[in-house]
Amino acid sequence: MARKNNICLLFPLLVLPIISIAADAAGGPSTVCSFLGASYVSYDYCMAVLSSDPRSSTADPHGLALITGDLVLANATAVRSTIELLLNNSSDPFIHTCLSHCRKIYEGAISDVRKAANATARRNYAAAEELFDGVLNAPADCEATFAARPVASSPIVKEDNEFSDIACLGRAINNYLK
Ligand SMILES: *[C@@H]1O[C@H](CO)[C@@H](O)[C@H](O)[C@H]1NC(C)=O
Ligand SMILES: *[C@@H]1O[C@H](CO)[C@@H](O)[C@H](O)[C@H]1NC(C)=O
Ligand SMILES: *[C@@H]1O[C@H](CO)[C@@H](O)[C@H](O)[C@H]1NC(C)=O
Ligand SMILES: *[C@@H]1O[C@H](CO)[C@@H](O)[C@H](O)[C@H]1NC(C)=O
Repeated sequence: MARKNNICLLFPLLVLPIISIAADAAGGPSTVCSFLGASYVSYDYCMAVLSSDPRSSTADPHGLALITGDLVLANATAVRSTIELLLNNSSDPFIHTCLSHCRKIYEGAISDVRKAANATARRNYAAAEELFDGVLNAPADCEATFAARPVASSPIVKEDNEFSDIACLGRAINNYLK
């Protein structure tokens, strides 16, 4: 957690389909998402992610932060699974080494996301924000391993990019609540 990662997005945000939330509770998703702009999280992205969980429509801001923690953890776990699949398939020793590093990096991220989710549950939002700040290094660190050989392209750039976005939302929502 040494470096300060101020820029969340590795690459421009993917445009996600926006599912509208019918009945937004006061202090619900649209209220919270409206306040996260300064943290590189767009309103539309925030709404799209929160809308993917049915609990969001009735959650208060604390509940939304808990839901986001769950979604970030699910995402980190899914990235690790993809890395494992790719590892089993890769015959290129360089790519294999990179993917092994990435697996370790995401192991660490998963552990820190769990700690962050626990901090959110204890309403220690500042601690959660700091943990997410460290977690945000994972996708960039993983991508950096592939950069050692310029001709090699990362087979998990999409996953790294998406994880960067969702971890950024995790940091932003805890920052909003602290
Ligand atoms: C990768 O291969 C190992 C050994 O063949 C196997 O145990 C493991 O389940 C495989 N993992 C995935 C994700 O396919
Ligand atoms: C891994 O290889 C199997 C069998 O060749 C293939 O079906 C699968 O799609 C590959 N998975 C990935 C993630 O590349
Ligand atoms: C998070 O909290 C759960 C439940 O209180 C606990 O079992 C788990 O060990 C904690 N995990 C971390 C990483 O702090
Ligand atoms: C991870 O988060 C992205 C949004 O950045 C989302 O599109 C993707 O479906 C999520 N994947 C999983 C497995 O949760």
